[in-house]
Amino acid sequence: MTYLVTDNCIKCKHTDCVAVCPVDCFYEADNFLAINPDECIDCGVCEPECPVGAIVSEIAVSSEEREKWDEINRQVSSWNVNIVDQKDPLPKATEMDGYPNKYEEFGIIPIKDITNE
Ligand code: SF4
Ligand code: F3S
Repeated sequence: MTYLVTDNCIKCKHTDCVAVCPVDCFYEADNFLAINPDECIDCGVCEPECPVGAIVSEIAVSSEEREKWDEINRQVSSWNVNIVDQKDPLPKATEMDGYPNKYEEFGIIPIKDITNE
């Protein structure tokens, strides 16, 4: 079992969640954070820390939502940009809270690889 980061994290990325995770299993995209389902120990402490309610237990959502977000969390985790320290939210975090269907509209963007610049 695992917790999953879902749609409302996109373009908010408050990062309060990373500060409490005992196993450091959050991974960063440019506009989203993911939980690695294979590393999460299902402790649940991150869920109430997210100011926009983006973290859910996989058993609290429909099977369609679970499949969708499990795949997305796994994909972003596979990019392997581990984040362990909290940082400032994205600039539009407040206005983007509750914006519908962010994944469909904006997608998830990997952290830019500055080594290729
Ligand atoms: Fe980390 Fe626990 Fe949240 Fe899993 S449920 S991501 S182990 S804080
Ligand atoms: Fe995203 Fe909430 Fe963490 S907005 S970065 S899941 S605190």
